[in-house]
Order: sequence, then C-alpha cells, then structure tokens
Amino acid sequence: MKSGIGIAAIALTVLIIPGAAESPAGERYFKEYCWGCHHQTAEAFGPSFRSIADKRTSAQIMAQIADPEHTYKSLGYARNSMPAFADLNASQLKALTDYILSFKDKK
Ligand code: HEC
Repeated sequence: MKSGIGIAAIALTVLIIPGAAESPAGERYFKEYCWGCHHQTAEAFGPSFRSIADKRTSAQIMAQIADPEHTYKSLGYARNSMPAFADLNASQLKALTDYILSFKDKK
C-alpha cells in the first residue's frame, strides 16, 4: 500500500516538473559526457547550461559540441579546453542541444 503511493508520487513529479519528461535522452547524454565539466545552472569548469542557453543558438551549440577546436574563437574564448564529441550522431547532438536550451531563462 505504502509503496504504491510512493510510485504514484514519483510519476506525478515527473509529469509536473517542466522539462523533466521532455528530454530524457539529452539529460542522459549530459550525465554521461558533460557533467564532469558543466552543470545545469551553476558555473563549473565550463559555463552553466543556463548561461549558454541565454546567449547561443542551437547551431552554435551543436558545432561547439562536435568540433570545439573550430568554434571556440567565434564564441569569444582565447583557447579551447573542451574535448570534441565527434562520435555523437545527429540525434544525440540534437538531444543534448535541446537539453541545454531547456535551461533558457531558468532562475
Ligand atoms: C573536459 C571538460 C569539458 C567537457 C567534458 C565538456 N565541456 Fe563543454 N566546455 C568546457 C569548457 C572549459 C568550455 C569553455 C570554453 C573553453 O574554455 O574551451 C566549454 C564550452 C562549451 C560550450 C560553449 C560555451 C559558450 O560560451 O557558448 C558548449 C555549448 C559546451 N561546452 C557543451 C558541452 C557539452 C554538451 C558537453 C558534453 C557532450 C561538454 N560541453 C563537455 C569544458 C568541457
């Protein structure tokens, strides 16, 4: 009985929190590949996803993930400290980019 209520509460939380159910793939890839250097709303070794979402287009973000060696200058950085994720396919890149952009205007 008790555990039934617990599961219902979790299911409800997933439905209510905006974005939580929207991009599960993007969030998964973020945890797998990016979390060591980027956090969602706090600065880490790299900038937060919120600050990226507030100033970049999806094309800029995708290009940076796939090939940062060729984009860091145009984004205003003096050098590149990020590895290229050249093995990600188009749908993985899109999922990650949508996940980053979901933090736009998040407080
Ligand atoms: C080894 C650390 C590291 C990892 C891992 C990493 N990044 Fe970065 N990333 C950085 C740093 C540092 C910067 C800031 C630019 C620089 O100094 O190279 C950056 C910059 C960026 C930018 C551009 C920031 C801007 O100003 O618009 C994007 C987008 C980005 N990272 C996305 C990702 C994503 C998505 C992943 C995972 C697939 C990832 N990064 C993994 C360190 C990392």
